[in-house]
Amino acid sequence: MKQRIALRGDLLDLTADPGWQVDPGAAVRFRPDHWLLVDEHGRIHGACADDAGADAWLAPGGRRIDCRGQLVTPGFIDTHVHAPQVDVIASFGTELLEWLNTYTFPAERKYADPVQAERGSALFLDALLACGTTSALVFPTVHKVSAEALFGAAAQRGMRILAGKVLMNRHAPEGLLDDVDQSERDCVDLIERWHGRGRAGYAVTPRFAATSTPEQLAMAGRLCAAHPGVYLQTHVAENRAEVRWMAELFPEARSYLDIYVRHGLMNDRAVFAHGIWLDDTDRAVLREAGASIAFCPSSNMFIGSGLFDWRQAESQGVAVNVGSDVGGGTSLSMLRTLADGYKVLALQGQKLTAWKALHAATLGAAEQLKLADEIGSLRPGTLADLVVWDWAQGPVAQRRHEVARDLHERVFAWMTLGDERYVASTWVAGEERYRRPGPAASPLDRP
Ligand code: GUN
Ligand code: ZN
Repeated sequence: MKQRIALRGDLLDLTADPGWQVDPGAAVRFRPDHWLLVDEHGRIHGACADDAGADAWLAPGGRRIDCRGQLVTPGFIDTHVHAPQVDVIASFGTELLEWLNTYTFPAERKYADPVQAERGSALFLDALLACGTTSALVFPTVHKVSAEALFGAAAQRGMRILAGKVLMNRHAPEGLLDDVDQSERDCVDLIERWHGRGRAGYAVTPRFAATSTPEQLAMAGRLCAAHPGVYLQTHVAENRAEVRWMAELFPEARSYLDIYVRHGLMNDRAVFAHGIWLDDTDRAVLREAGASIAFCPSSNMFIGSGLFDWRQAESQGVAVNVGSDVGGGTSLSMLRTLADGYKVLALQGQKLTAWKALHAATLGAAEQLKLADEIGSLRPGTLADLVVWDWAQGPVAQRRHEVARDLHERVFAWMTLGDERYVASTWVAGEERYRRPGPAASPLDRP
């Protein structure tokens, strides 16, 4: 049993999809200088403005945390990221297929070693927490031990992580290949041991259609059908050369997305990364299935994949959330990722409001993943996965913050200028799991 908590700051969360308006109506809930009340089970109880309310909640033994002047949001949800690719972030000079062969596959081979997988998973999850991301849909590697290590490290930190052993039985180097029967046994075992245990959720994870035979894709489809609560994650229509290759590999499919449909890999728990080069029929298929796209703007720019058209996807009823896609993406910070999202949309004449961006990275993702009772907002009853942020750092951001004329300007400047350095602390189910190190004392300061 934990202590009760009252945490004071400027509370900001979304209560609904705000649409694309700067004026979001009631969808944005801003409660400046309020106490957020968290119970002894790590769940949000409510909020109050007055100290007396906080005192009454805490009674003897509770913990008061005064973050006055700082911003408090729900923890971010990254809907597409690769744990082992921290080792290849910021790799120079390639597009997707060459990038995979040159940098990514060699790095992922290291995760056959359980010690490497454990160290890497711990580093990755601590890095997410330091960025203010408390939940994610994660690719480990093809190795069963890499999924074990990730789930184990997430359990130690109390984090809501969705993941699954990557499936790939062709078009990858030795040391990164599985086979249909063994991978099926591994997945069934991992589902039985991890899915629904604590905050873990299993995601069937065929890397992308090119690295699985039709038999393995069909096996993945059977797993989804046999375990209706599990998620599905993969990549689709990211890069034009990749799309052409898929057409050669699966000539019978109408489109790249259709390969997944034909193998039973289309449902309302499916998250498809990228989806830049889809057509109207594909988008109708996604809408009807209730599946979603993880928009990964940093990655799409860095490895030169293309500009995702969010407004078009949404106008055709497709749910869109946001992923960092490290190591194609260049930051685990969802603030940096959202700021990149703004720029990708700006290049297409669209404007991503701070509200729409925040919704996609919090409540919107939680709802799409059917986890809104647990994460994504400051709603009473949800777990207290929280981030305390500086509003601004340094003279330029500070000045911009001070002259902001309204709340959207202030939050948009925070989103655009901020990154992991703005994170003061990150809380998971009411426990502080990251605190920014204080400035080291200078030897000159000593008496
Ligand atoms: N397509 C298949 N594998 C990957 C990957 O690791 N990263 C990205 N961005 N796209 C992929
Ligand atoms: Zn990816």
